[in-house]
Amino acid sequence: MKKSTFLVIGGAGYIGSHLVKALIEQQEQVVIIDNLSAGSASAVLGGELIVHDFDDREFLDNLFSSKHFDGVFHFASQIVVSESVKDPGKYYRANTAATLTLLEAMRDHKVGPLVFSSTAAVYGEPLYTPIDEQHPTNPLNPYGRSKLMVEHMLADFASAYNQKYIALRYFNAAGADPQARIGESHDPETHLIPLALQAISGKRPPLQLFGQDYATPDGTCIRDYIHVDDLASAHILAIHHLNNGGASGIFNLGSNHGYSVNEVIQTAARVTGKDVPLTYAPRRPGDPASLVADASLAKKTLGWQPKYTDLNQIIEHAWAWEQANS
Ligand SMILES: NC(=O)c1ccc[n+]([C@@H]2O[C@H](COP(=O)([O-])OP(=O)(O)OC[C@H]3O[C@@H](n4cnc5c(N)ncnc54)[C@H](O)[C@@H]3O)[C@@H](O)[C@H]2O)c1
Repeated sequence: MKKSTFLVIGGAGYIGSHLVKALIEQQEQVVIIDNLSAGSASAVLGGELIVHDFDDREFLDNLFSSKHFDGVFHFASQIVVSESVKDPGKYYRANTAATLTLLEAMRDHKVGPLVFSSTAAVYGEPLYTPIDEQHPTNPLNPYGRSKLMVEHMLADFASAYNQKYIALRYFNAAGADPQARIGESHDPETHLIPLALQAISGKRPPLQLFGQDYATPDGTCIRDYIHVDDLASAHILAIHHLNNGGASGIFNLGSNHGYSVNEVIQTAARVTGKDVPLTYAPRRPGDPASLVADASLAKKTLGWQPKYTDLNQIIEHAWAWEQANS
C-alpha cells in the first residue's frame, strides 16, 4: 500500500511528538517543523525534523513547492493561559496571525487537509456538562480566544476555498508513551499531573491546591484527562476521515469522565506509593468547577475509541516517564 507523507507542525512538543511516534509506527513518512522554543529534538522519535518557525511565508513556499504532503497537523502554539492574560499580543500573533500565514500558504499551494489543535478553553464557563460541540463558545482568556479565532478562520477558508479541516478540542492531555521514551515536560509546567508527580519526586515545591469550596462532591475542581496516545490516534483517524471524503468539522476529545483534583492527588499517591506534598490556596479566577467532555461525536464520526480510560494507567505512564526523565 502506498504510504502517505504528513507534515507535523510543533511535532517536537508534548502532544505532537506522540503523533509523530504513532505515524512512524504506521510506517508513514513524516516531516516535522518545530522551532524548539518549547519542544525538544530528542522527543522526535523519527521522521525529518526541520528546526524553523512555521509562520515564515518564504520558508513555507519553498517547502510546499518541493514536497507533497497528504495532510498537515498543526500543534504549534503558545499555551500558558495566565501568560495570555498578561501578554495577549503574543498569543494573537503566535496562535492566530501565524496560523493565518499557514492557511494562506496551504491555500496557494493546494496543500491539505489540516488537523488543528484547538482546546476546551473555547467553551469558557460551562452552561451544562458533559460539554458537547453544540455548547456555546465563550472563552474566558486570550489563549482560548486566539484558538477560537482560528476555528472561525478555518470555517471561512473551508467555505471560500474548499480547504478541508478538522479542529480537535482537547480537554486535559495527560500520560506519556507507555514505554516512557517521551512524555510531558513543559517549562513552565501548568498541568496538574506532572506538577503532582514532580512535587513527589522533589523536583518542585509542594503542589498548590487551588480551592476546596467548589460545588463538586469533594469541593475540588473536576477535569477530564485524556491519554496523549489516544489524542494521537484521534488525529490519524481525523486525517483519514478527510482524505476519504469526510466533511470538515469540530470534535471534542476527552474521556467523558471527570476526576476531581483530590482524586488525581490520591491516584498519584497510590501509583507512586508516596503522598503528594501539598499547600492550600484560594480559588484562581477563571477556573470553572467542572469541565467534562461529551466526545461521542468523535467516536461516532471518526470511529475513535480511547484505549487508556483508567486514570491509574494514565498516571502510571506519566510516573514512568517522570522517573526516566529525571
Ligand atoms: N496540553 C494540553 O493539555 C492541551 C489541551 C488543549 C489544547 N492543547 C493544544 O495542543 C497543542 C500542543 O500542546 P502541547 O502541550 O503539546 O504544547 P507544547 O508546547 O509541548 O508543543 C508545542 C510545540 O510547538 C513548537 N512551536 C511553538 N511555536 C512555534 C513556531 N512559531 N514555529 C515552530 N514551532 C513552534 C514548540 O517548540 C513545541 O515543540 C497546542 O496548540 C495547545 O494549545 C493542549
